[in-house]
Amino acid sequence: MKVKINGTMEEYRTVWMTDSVIYMINQPKLPACFQIYGSDNHRKTAKSIKDMIVRGAPAIGATGAFGITQAAIEFKGDDFSCFLRHMEEAKKTLKDARPTAYDLFYAIDKMSEEIDKTSSIKEAISLLQEASLNYANESTERCRLIGVNGEKLIRDSSRILTHCNAGALGCVDYGTALAPIRIANDNGKKPFVFVDETRPRCQGSRLTAWELIQEDISHSIIVDNAAGYLMRKGEIDLVIVGADRITSNGDVINKIGTYEKAVLAKENNIPFYVAAPKSTFDYNSKTGDETEIEERSEDEVLYMWGIDSDNRLNNVRIAPKESKARNPAFDVTPAKYISKIITEEGIYNPQEIPTKH
Ligand code: MRU
Repeated sequence: MKVKINGTMEEYRTVWMTDSVIYMINQPKLPACFQIYGSDNHRKTAKSIKDMIVRGAPAIGATGAFGITQAAIEFKGDDFSCFLRHMEEAKKTLKDARPTAYDLFYAIDKMSEEIDKTSSIKEAISLLQEASLNYANESTERCRLIGVNGEKLIRDSSRILTHCNAGALGCVDYGTALAPIRIANDNGKKPFVFVDETRPRCQGSRLTAWELIQEDISHSIIVDNAAGYLMRKGEIDLVIVGADRITSNGDVINKIGTYEKAVLAKENNIPFYVAAPKSTFDYNSKTGDETEIEERSEDEVLYMWGIDSDNRLNNVRIAPKESKARNPAFDVTPAKYISKIITEEGIYNPQEIPTKH
């Protein structure tokens, strides 16, 4: 992705690995500071996923793949069965970081297949290094193709609503929901984006808005409750969101609030598109209701947090000290509310998605 640093454009990926260190754009620091976080062991990598230094389904998938490689490099000794035990523990640590986004599980299982190919530690490390780099490259290409396919759904000056951050920051590059918008903008279609702020972590107002500025894409941030009003007034032409998991029946699990937007879109005859690579498709679950929905700390709701331009953490309690909160991070949008699912292979009706990875 393009990042403007002191007036010059630089190319970044959200996550990458050099030797045994995984580097990632430190997302909680945006938009105040652009900083890179380096994790030098797989436990820190798992914590960086849990704490959302890296976030978004395809991005945490690639981080999980690199995390497995990192765990293999970390292993000290030459006993292959000890190595396998160490790797099982590492897989569990990384998978336990967050429960909902399917890409994390898909990526780690892919890396597991590499370990199964050998009985040599040295060879396992080299297979994993190659496979995790390929995984990140393929993930980038999948998102680029989502952009190419989805761009066809965007007309000149389309006014598009998006929720959460499903841009390059949530992926290795390009994004899912933002990829078609970015390509439409490059093709001169001049899309306009309504950005849901996406409480409580504000992925919209902090991250999506920051990305759209890097790409010179016109936008307005709206509060999460404003979409219905704007839809009724005819100010939104289409909705595009990403997904954390898509189940066999075409149900979509995505950031909390997605379901509401889909119901509102149907009520107002506005197309509701979901953009996701096939690494997000969970064929083990028949319906969205089988998925574990992450409940995060109530503090994310009770406090308004942020990093200021001096890189200081500001945490302000916005609720009475006696109040408790619930913080489900995702919801399930039943397939019947979804107009189309945009993938790297094409655009599908939710009931007719591809049946294997
Ligand atoms: O909790 P997050 O920020 O990891 O949630 C991310 C989302 O819900 C995105 O919309 C999703 O991963 C779409 S693809 C980047």
